[in-house]
Amino acid sequence: MDHTNEYDFKNFVQDMTVMVERSQNDNECVVEAERLVGKLIQSQSWLPSEKRRPSKEGYSRYLLYCDPEDRFEVIALVWKPGQKTTLHDHDDTWGAEGVVAGMVKVTNYIGLEELSGGNIVKLQHTDTIIVNEQNTGKLLPPADCHILEGVGNKPTITIHVYGKQLRKFRVFTPLDEEGLYLAKEKRVEYSPA
Ligand SMILES: [Fe+2]
Repeated sequence: MDHTNEYDFKNFVQDMTVMVERSQNDNECVVEAERLVGKLIQSQSWLPSEKRRPSKEGYSRYLLYCDPEDRFEVIALVWKPGQKTTLHDHDDTWGAEGVVAGMVKVTNYIGLEELSGGNIVKLQHTDTIIVNEQNTGKLLPPADCHILEGVGNKPTITIHVYGKQLRKFRVFTPLDEEGLYLAKEKRVEYSPA
């Protein structure tokens, strides 16, 4: 098959770079980033095999690109069916996500209130959706808290773009009182490619 005319990862990074240079605000960025992710995931030959490998220990997290001026990063996550994240946020930045292969279940929450200096947060569940191959989603604080889970009968591959290099994020554990969660900071790690 001739892939020469396909929109590939290099095209995507070029378009993303132009977009972050021109965009006025996060809302504009996330809408356009989601559109570009949608374009990128129409094909998948650009994603090398070493960035598609699942792991027994939990979902894999491969860094694909980081903007030299830290205006965005691109990662690939690879999930075996049933592997999932904890409930988490994205360190106050926007995100756009797309499914390259398989399906992902997304359970979305919105942040309502920060209590005791941010150690406890009030979250509200908004919706739970299944995102299929070649579909996309986006997140923008305070609607940026979610749980992702690979579902179906084969590995899932998802692409994620964030508005900066995510070095940390918060994970949330439910407390006895409904809607209240204990927030804990977590350092981000990448899987070795
Ligand atoms: Fe996330």
